[in-house]
Amino acid sequence: MPADLQVVDLRSVEPPLAESLAGLLSSVWPDSSQTFDERVAGLLHDWKSYAGPAQQFPRAFVVLEEGQPIAHAGLVPREVRAPGHAVTVGALGGVCARPDRRGQGLGVAVVQASFALVDEGVFPYVLFQNYRDYQPFYEKLGARVIDNRIYNSLAEDPQANPFWADVAMVYAGGNDWPEGDLDLGGPGY
Ligand SMILES: CC(C)(COP(=O)(O)OP(=O)(O)OC[C@H]1O[C@@H](n2cnc3c(N)ncnc32)[C@H](O)[C@@H]1OP(=O)(O)O)[C@@H](O)C(=O)NCCC(=O)NCCS
Repeated sequence: MPADLQVVDLRSVEPPLAESLAGLLSSVWPDSSQTFDERVAGLLHDWKSYAGPAQQFPRAFVVLEEGQPIAHAGLVPREVRAPGHAVTVGALGGVCARPDRRGQGLGVAVVQASFALVDEGVFPYVLFQNYRDYQPFYEKLGARVIDNRIYNSLAEDPQANPFWADVAMVYAGGNDWPEGDLDLGGPGY
């Protein structure tokens, strides 16, 4: 783990860091529906009043270089429903390294830090979506593709898959991943 890998508590992000993180995310995903200002606002406010279990607090793993973020992974709690029971997973998103710093282990560092929360018993699973190209990147770190049908019971079309990328993946450590349909109970991330 690089020395400058930091845990950012999303309940209380300082405005300058929110701006530099939004800058990194907007440069990696320029076509996102979220504008720079919306990203800043989200980072400042979305999790301010989080009232869930303290150890599952919403966070981002960020590698900083001279105060600037060069890699990021967001890991926030998300209650999903498998047949017969609800479970709070770690929802992983926004995994990126600055284009000029790729191939230096930073992506692995922020994802490994996220998956470590499962090994430490904070979350039973880390659940995320991604594109086929990146599947081997996550598989090398112990994640696997899941084939549960995924839906959002709160959506206008509750049968539609709220994830938009090619595959859904999970890091489960030593835990058994449930079979059957999975209700994200909200939009994809
Ligand atoms: C995915 C991403 C974060 C990887 O970051 P990175 O810092 O370059 O990755 P690392 O240097 O830690 O790479 C570690 C390993 O992953 C491999 N890897 C990286 N990108 C890969 C890809 N697209 N396909 C397959 N393997 C990949 C590297 O080859 C390396 O493997 P090796 O050590 O065996 O050679 C980075 O490519 C990125 O920001 N991509 C754009 C954002 C994005 O699409 N993120 C979402 C992914 S779902």
